[in-house]
Amino acid sequence: MLIHEIQSEIQRLKREKNICILVHAYQSHDIWEIADYVGDSFGLSQKAAESDAETVIMCGVRFMAETVKILSPQKRVILSNAEAGCPMAEQISVELLSQLKAKYPDYTVVSYINTTANLKTLSDVCVTSSSAVKIVKNIENEKILFIPDCNLGSWVQKQIPEKQFQFVPGGCPTHLLITPKHVEQARIMHPNALLLVHPECSEKVVELADYVGSTTQIMDFAKKNPATEFIIGTENSIVQHLQFDCPDKRFFALSKNCVCHNMKMTTLGDVYECVRGIGGEEISLDADTLRDAKRSIDEMLRLEKL
Ligand code: 13P
Ligand code: SF4
Repeated sequence: MLIHEIQSEIQRLKREKNICILVHAYQSHDIWEIADYVGDSFGLSQKAAESDAETVIMCGVRFMAETVKILSPQKRVILSNAEAGCPMAEQISVELLSQLKAKYPDYTVVSYINTTANLKTLSDVCVTSSSAVKIVKNIENEKILFIPDCNLGSWVQKQIPEKQFQFVPGGCPTHLLITPKHVEQARIMHPNALLLVHPECSEKVVELADYVGSTTQIMDFAKKNPATEFIIGTENSIVQHLQFDCPDKRFFALSKNCVCHNMKMTTLGDVYECVRGIGGEEISLDADTLRDAKRSIDEMLRLEKL
């Protein structure tokens, strides 16, 4: 079958079976084209919760499908490729977080949304990369235990110096492949371009950027800004997607290394199997996990509104 033939079959089957297809921004363009919604993980979970679809296919990684399930426990949620996990979401075990909570009993546990459902059950509040600064500012406690991304955490800390932070070493293995040397080389190659980077990059890379934001914020910034050239410091699929959206502008990858292989596990063929009911993995979380994980997400929504 040709790509467009598989895409038409997916579209036909998803309408027939009342399926909603969520596609994270780091997926490839052939998958973007069959999406009901494209975006970041939390925004997609909210879209799924609003939809009347009985089945939701999450084209992304495991923690994203879990977040969809937490917000829509009554829906069937399918992870498009069962092998697609996020090493950062899984870098801390429940045991380690329990030990940290015992060591820092008076700290508020703030979890990046990129964590497993089990870690969310032990957290006080979740944050996304776009909401983290506002939410941490709105937390009454001055003491913050920020997991699992110490890079996003230290970017937040710089903007809220009055608070005291504890971090766990680690981070996103994809964004950490970008180094200050890549910035130096890209600035020489593209002297007129603005450098846009994700806060999952190392502190040293973030310091050199013209703009720091989540994936969606980077895309919005590049579309709206009058500049015509941009160096993109996040997963490289964003370079291609922006080029499709803005054919009159030029986009360059900050580093050819910044490819998330877990995000790239999902193929159009996987999605075709999911809509035919023979592929992917249905996400199942017990009632206690659903309830306790949702508490940290509800707290994020409450603090975001203050
Ligand atoms: P955002 O899409 O929230 O910017 O997160 C980036 C990421 O690494 C997703 O796994
Ligand atoms: Fe995880 Fe990083 Fe891949 Fe996002 S880009 S899924 S944080 S490894």
